[in-house]
Amino acid sequence: MDEIAPWEQFIRNTALHHFVYLNEPWLWPTCEIIHYLGLSLLLGTVGLFDLRVLGLAKGIPPRAIHRLVPWGVGGYVLNVLTGILFFSGHPDQYFYNNAGRLKALFMAVAGINILAFYGTTVFPEMKKLAAGADAPTRIKVIAGVSLAMWVGVLICGRMLTWFRPPFFH
Ligand code: HEM
Repeated sequence: MDEIAPWEQFIRNTALHHFVYLNEPWLWPTCEIIHYLGLSLLLGTVGLFDLRVLGLAKGIPPRAIHRLVPWGVGGYVLNVLTGILFFSGHPDQYFYNNAGRLKALFMAVAGINILAFYGTTVFPEMKKLAAGADAPTRIKVIAGVSLAMWVGVLICGRMLTWFRPPFFH
């Protein structure tokens, strides 16, 4: 792996790569902090909503917790932006990394799951659920997959560092 693949060379030639590389001492820790704030926002809102649909805190109508979801979307956007920065800085460290690949796979499944939630009758059905109501099984399955995928993304994120290839360049 000491020869740089064309896709990696392309990233290493971008202005973003040079910007990250030159400013790494302050930029990297700043982005790590933002990445953590982003994932806290995501799991603290979307994760909470998923738990309610699965049957926790049934006294709260799901649509009330769903009002927090835009904060989770904001957190996700922060993570995408900082994640792109990390990846541009050291692309090989994350591409040749099984935790990185699994993280991407979990995010793709989470994305398809979001389509199943908002693109079908599930979303309007969820909005009708009152305080104390048990969600239908198919909505619970979507909430369970969502929770599992985001927790998986979080675990894989933390595991990236254990599966890093050696630094060649
Ligand atoms: C497109 C979105 C994302 C991309 C491209 C991305 C990419 C990355 C990269 C490259 C790192 C490694 C940073 C390093 O080596 O210091 C990282 C770390 C991490 N990511 Fe993400 N990430 C994304 C979204 C998320 C989300 C949504 C979560 C949580 C639900 C998450 C959780 C983590 C965690 C826990 C770490 C470990 C930080 C550390 O241990 O220092 N990431 N991410």
